[in-house]
Amino acid sequence: MIEAFAYRRTTSTVLITPVTKKGYGAWLRKQTAPVRNGLRSARFAAKSGTHVLLPAAKGRKAYVVAGIDEAPDLWSLAYLPNILPSGVYALDDDVEASVATVLTVGWGLGSYRFNRYLSEPKRDPAKLVVPKDVGRTEAEAQVDAVSLVRDLINTPAADMGPPELAEAAKQMAGGFSAKTRIVRGKELKEAFPAIHAVGRAADKAPRLIDITWGKPKHPKVTVVGKGVCFDTGGLNLKPAQGMRWMKKDMGGAAVALGLAHLIMSAHLQVRLRVIIPAVENNVAGNAYRPGDVLRTRKGVSVEIGNTDAEGRLVLADGLALADEEAPDLLIDCATLTGAARVALGADLPALFCDDTDFAQALVAAGDAVADPLWRLPLWRPYRKLLDTPIADINNVGTGGMAGAITAALFLATFVDKAKTWVHLDLYGWNDGDRPGRPRGGEAMAMRALFEVIRDRFGVA
Ligand code: BES
Ligand code: MN
Ligand code: ZN
Repeated sequence: MIEAFAYRRTTSTVLITPVTKKGYGAWLRKQTAPVRNGLRSARFAAKSGTHVLLPAAKGRKAYVVAGIDEAPDLWSLAYLPNILPSGVYALDDDVEASVATVLTVGWGLGSYRFNRYLSEPKRDPAKLVVPKDVGRTEAEAQVDAVSLVRDLINTPAADMGPPELAEAAKQMAGGFSAKTRIVRGKELKEAFPAIHAVGRAADKAPRLIDITWGKPKHPKVTVVGKGVCFDTGGLNLKPAQGMRWMKKDMGGAAVALGLAHLIMSAHLQVRLRVIIPAVENNVAGNAYRPGDVLRTRKGVSVEIGNTDAEGRLVLADGLALADEEAPDLLIDCATLTGAARVALGADLPALFCDDTDFAQALVAAGDAVADPLWRLPLWRPYRKLLDTPIADINNVGTGGMAGAITAALFLATFVDKAKTWVHLDLYGWNDGDRPGRPRGGEAMAMRALFEVIRDRFGVA
């Protein structure tokens, strides 16, 4: 998918030596005088995030020295693919395997670009020869999964509506011989009434995407992703600024598909299921209205307090379906609330989970792989904020406080049988450019989830 890597060194391959501030002095003393002089005149001090490209000279090939932290992470060299001249580079053999793996994946993520609509392609990113002690398949799977998520989110709603999202899901699943079922039309209206109600006003019809993979005897892991391909807010229309980036409102679905890609690439011993309600929340004469009472798959009636709280409605039916087979682990990912962003900002998905062990494992995994999360409470007393005399539950809380928690509690209504349920309220987007993390769609919580699933369920 992405051309970040090369697989063989040639005579023109340029070596990169990562150095820490601590190790720099000793390392420098071992270098030849021209190298020492070159670095000195560039005022290189091994500061993390800085590098020097020493040009080829008589009797010496071109050479890169790059400063990294004592504990390098994914992003330590992720800026290099776009800064170094196009060509093939390789990490110094001295780099320890675990560090090389992290730097290699980061290099891949730093090579990402969204080219689809550019008439002039951008320059090729510099390529890295995958070091020999780095698991090539795993590194590529990580890069491919993140790239898939970013591409899905970055693609505008006109080209990534419910049918296109279903097609992308089918394609990804097909690559691993997973089965995909698409429910729409009359069948959707009958079996998934809330998904239908939210999506029916859009030109592109709503649908449910249902992917299954793996052996029935293995632990059941099910991921439900919010696939709102565009969120106008419905009749409670969003203002211009609020609507501007709502092509990303299928970020949860994108993360679910990326996670599935990782799980299937790694051949984890799980029975995987991915469920995506794919809709566009739009306006038309047949749009669902504030004050309407929706029927849901589970039989719970929902009064609509606000048509802009559509994500929890489509997830309600998706979660109900997932819960029916009592999965061992049920995860949902969604760009669900602005309130989660007010609480934690763009970088930290809010994690809700009653199982403290699982929540802590997920947070720790996120820290370990530079995919951080933060836990918020499923504070049951706030459930009363969703009470209404008209129906079993309202889709928005009264008073406007704890919006991320009331949204999570709304979802909890539709989960009974799953052994462990995890809800992730994520942003799915980088507002600015950072090394390895270009502005635009981002795969948040995905790599953290993968680590925990691999540790807990994936061992043969
Ligand atoms: N998709 C939005 C939430 C969102 C907005 C996520 C901006 C990330 C960035 C969701 O459908 C929504 O509109 N939520 C409302 C809920 C409210 C009406 C209770 C919100 O958060 O304002
Ligand atoms: Mn909304
Ligand atoms: Zn939304």
